[in-house]
Amino acid sequence: MWKLAIEDAVEKTRNNIDRFGELFPHISMNGRYQLNENNDWTDGFWSGLLWLCYEYSNEPIFKGKALKTVKSFENRLKKHIVLDHHDIGFLYSLSTKAQWMIEKNESARALTLRAADKLLLRWHEKGQYLQAWGAKNDEKESGRIIIDCLLNLPLLYWASKQTGDPKYRDVALAQAEKSRRYLVRGDDSSYHTFFFNQETGEPIGGATHQGYTNGSTWTRGQAWGIYGFALSYHYTKNSAYLETAKRMAKYFIEHLPEDYVSYWDFNAPVDETTPRDSSATAIAACGLLEINKHLNEDDSDRSYFEDTVIKMMKSLVVNYSTIKEKDAEGLLNHGSYHVLGNLAIDDYMVWGDYYYLEALMRLEKNHEGFWYE
Ligand code: GLY
Repeated sequence: MWKLAIEDAVEKTRNNIDRFGELFPHISMNGRYQLNENNDWTDGFWSGLLWLCYEYSNEPIFKGKALKTVKSFENRLKKHIVLDHHDIGFLYSLSTKAQWMIEKNESARALTLRAADKLLLRWHEKGQYLQAWGAKNDEKESGRIIIDCLLNLPLLYWASKQTGDPKYRDVALAQAEKSRRYLVRGDDSSYHTFFFNQETGEPIGGATHQGYTNGSTWTRGQAWGIYGFALSYHYTKNSAYLETAKRMAKYFIEHLPEDYVSYWDFNAPVDETTPRDSSATAIAACGLLEINKHLNEDDSDRSYFEDTVIKMMKSLVVNYSTIKEKDAEGLLNHGSYHVLGNLAIDDYMVWGDYYYLEALMRLEKNHEGFWYE
């Protein structure tokens, strides 16, 4: 089943190369991807899809197009179109760093290190955290961390490994620790975001941006936590991160509906109209597969996670993917970007497509994506 699903994804990505031209897919409207000029947080996922398709098929068309996106990311760095948010890890891990990992191309490595330097500009020394959104002096945003940022930390861990300079890793560790302490709650659920006093660094409280309420558990946030802490464990071998990833994973699994694909928020009321977020399940699947790489064969959690991830992925392939829709642009139906903001509810999300293919590649090829080498 995984092979068929990967081949369908490769075919659709090949078709999208001409459709998208020089532009980058983001979220869909009426079954068509909205495209942008490489100026959003999601643009690395298109590069990541192209690199994954190249790794699977070895077809030059994917490498050629992926390299064009790398050029565009070089330009983006030059023009400073990456400064006012923390999503630099998403953007550059899957584009320039992927090229470095596949080809050992020195200029791709240098670009990726420059991107890591940009991410460090989001650091608040006083509060010891990376600011998620907005200008550094923004009155509201400069005190905010968000759980999604955990997926940006592999860029920093990697940069320290590459250069031998601990400054990137120190920031990543401090951010992972802040996130564990303030974003993860006692029952292993999570806040989407958390505010600190930007002058004193004192904690203020949790809040949501895309979830149902400030105290609810936004499904995709929980998924970012599972995968993000598993990746922090990969780089640091600090058992607290593996433990946190496992606990968050159990919360996620225990709150799944019967078909193993999450609704958009674990606390949103459920009826027949409640939107799913298939992208959250694809991210969580990658997280579970990463966690399992670090558990012993005889660990009962390992078989529990493995059984569950297979159920999740089978449901995604059979009930949510576009495998039966030959001309579809997206790979995964029924993602939700921002339900209460009325933005892309029940649509394609390019990150959902990316993590879906990454999970399939993990299952079929033992290929872990581009977060570490
Ligand atoms: N990182 C933004 C989102 O998950 O919607």
